[in-house]
Amino acid sequence: MSEVRYDEIGYWSEIKLDIVRKYAQAYSSVLSKQSSIRKYLYIDAFAGAGVHISKLTGDFVPGSPLHALNVQPPFSEYHFIDLDGDKADNLRQLAGDVPNVWIYNEDCNSVLPAKVFTRARWDDFNRALCLLDPYAMNLDWEVIQTAGLMKSIEIFMNFMVMDVNMNVLWNNPDSVQPSQLMRMDAFWGDHSWRNTLYQKPTGLLPGFDIEEKVSNAAVAKAYQDRLKRVAGFKYVPDPMPMRNSRGAIVYYLFFASPNETGAKIVSDIFNTYRDRGAV
Ligand SMILES: C[S@@+](CC[C@H](N)C(=O)[O-])C[C@H]1O[C@@H](n2cnc3c(N)ncnc32)[C@H](O)[C@@H]1O
Repeated sequence: MSEVRYDEIGYWSEIKLDIVRKYAQAYSSVLSKQSSIRKYLYIDAFAGAGVHISKLTGDFVPGSPLHALNVQPPFSEYHFIDLDGDKADNLRQLAGDVPNVWIYNEDCNSVLPAKVFTRARWDDFNRALCLLDPYAMNLDWEVIQTAGLMKSIEIFMNFMVMDVNMNVLWNNPDSVQPSQLMRMDAFWGDHSWRNTLYQKPTGLLPGFDIEEKVSNAAVAKAYQDRLKRVAGFKYVPDPMPMRNSRGAIVYYLFFASPNETGAKIVSDIFNTYRDRGAV
């Protein structure tokens, strides 16, 4: 086993961790009181090493799996997935002998639908909170669609708008590499993004056939609509724009749920952070 390299995380990643930590605590408090629920799971699909280094302070800070393990009352099961073997090994060490922890060193796009979501079926009176936190656009729509259809799973997910802008939504869409188009199709679920995310400017004279990429806010709105209309999540609050140190939006943090109470709690949490500036 080689030594794990801890990720350095910026101010907005620390905010994301705070948001997810607060909701995970509220989720467990509510679900633990529902006598009809048999099990409720915490699923971290791009789990990381469990510990990061804060760019702000240089100190070690807990990652999302550690925050989840600290929630009281505990979740019935924890499922942590990371493709990086060293990070998965580190998670194994951190989890120690905490019961009901599963760690997978696999691609979450395969392991979630095949082995994890199946443990959170509505008909079995099970529920799950799932964090989908990739660094790039490497989350397949099939994962989102499966979670949406199950009606028993709530998700936080990062929409990596900076990756989409850098690699796909170019001013000249014809020069985008085919491999990037395929990534985008897998992420969006089909090729419909091509018509949705490029629009003709208003007031264009007849005969001009120009299209422009829509704004970041419009890209996020289109994905929010997809989470509701295509994946079938009933409640999808307006996402949180997460920024880098220059104030540019790197990703949108989405929450999607079949549950109105969950969405209300998350909207309130989002609103306490929404107007913070860059640090
Ligand atoms: C943003 S970090 C996770 C941070 C973590 N959620 C936290 O907040 O503490 C993303 C992680 O996803 C892992 N990863 C990338 N692609 C993956 C995949 N297809 N399946 C599972 N893990 C993946 C990377 O190794 C990396 O550790």
